[in-house]
Amino acid sequence: MSSTLNTPAPTAQDSAQAGRQATRRRYLMCRPDRFTVSYRINPWMNPDDPTDTSLAVSQWEVLHQHYLELGHTVELIDPLDGLPDMVFAANGGFTLDGVAYGAKFTHDERIPEGPAYMDWFEANGFRVVRPEFVNEGEGDIMLVGDTILAGTGFRTDPRSHDEVRRIFDREVVTLNLVNPSFYHLDTAISVLDPIVPGDGRAANIAYLPDAFDEASNRILAERYPDAIHVSSEDAAVLGLNSISDGRNVVIAARAAGFEAQLRERGYTPVGVDLSELLLGGGGVKCCTLELRG
Ligand code: ARG
Repeated sequence: MSSTLNTPAPTAQDSAQAGRQATRRRYLMCRPDRFTVSYRINPWMNPDDPTDTSLAVSQWEVLHQHYLELGHTVELIDPLDGLPDMVFAANGGFTLDGVAYGAKFTHDERIPEGPAYMDWFEANGFRVVRPEFVNEGEGDIMLVGDTILAGTGFRTDPRSHDEVRRIFDREVVTLNLVNPSFYHLDTAISVLDPIVPGDGRAANIAYLPDAFDEASNRILAERYPDAIHVSSEDAAVLGLNSISDGRNVVIAARAAGFEAQLRERGYTPVGVDLSELLLGGGGVKCCTLELRG
């Protein structure tokens, strides 16, 4: 499948020169058969604006197809009636070491998604840990190398960060989100490099500094001196809400500046158009939960 981006794709050699290596991933997705915007729980959503569910499905199918063509495995969870945001699978939990930490949603409209995803994890071989505190899964809990970055400010209760630390026995770093348009951590940070065992390189990220308070900006600057800082224009099309396999980075096609920054660093951007799902306040990453067995 050809990328929807206009600039020429870098050759395999360009990525190889930068030492970018793709690793195969396993993702969980939910077809947006029930997607619409019938309530407003983030500034992107407006129930008065019409949505086109069949367009949402066809845009989502392109994303799904890209993952398959990149060699990843994609599992599907059945969409449920009355849960229009269930397409945003990233919020369904956080998985690592074969353990799935369940989600506990902030807003009533999404609460039933928590048990639905936990049932899926249980039926698919994960040990499920039921959450005590509010958390919206990978939307706010992101693995970067061996460290877990955990967001708070709009949705996820910081007490869940302690739960995550206890369950996974990893370093957990709390980051404070301050801009309501970037209400989940995965709208403000993109994880570019996976853990490559024995590789020894620091995992890198891209982020929008304005989405964080000063203290969190200091933490990010100190930990990720080579991070890509994206423009507010690119962040405003949810450009950061992207999925990287270490080499190929699936992003919003409209995030042209971020696309160029990725190419300069030897990544291969793959642009997709999820304009319908953007009406719900979600992008590429929101539609994708990583399964780490
Ligand atoms: N409408 C959904 C909500 O507000 C969008 C979720 C986006 N998901 C994400 N991982 N950022 O909860």
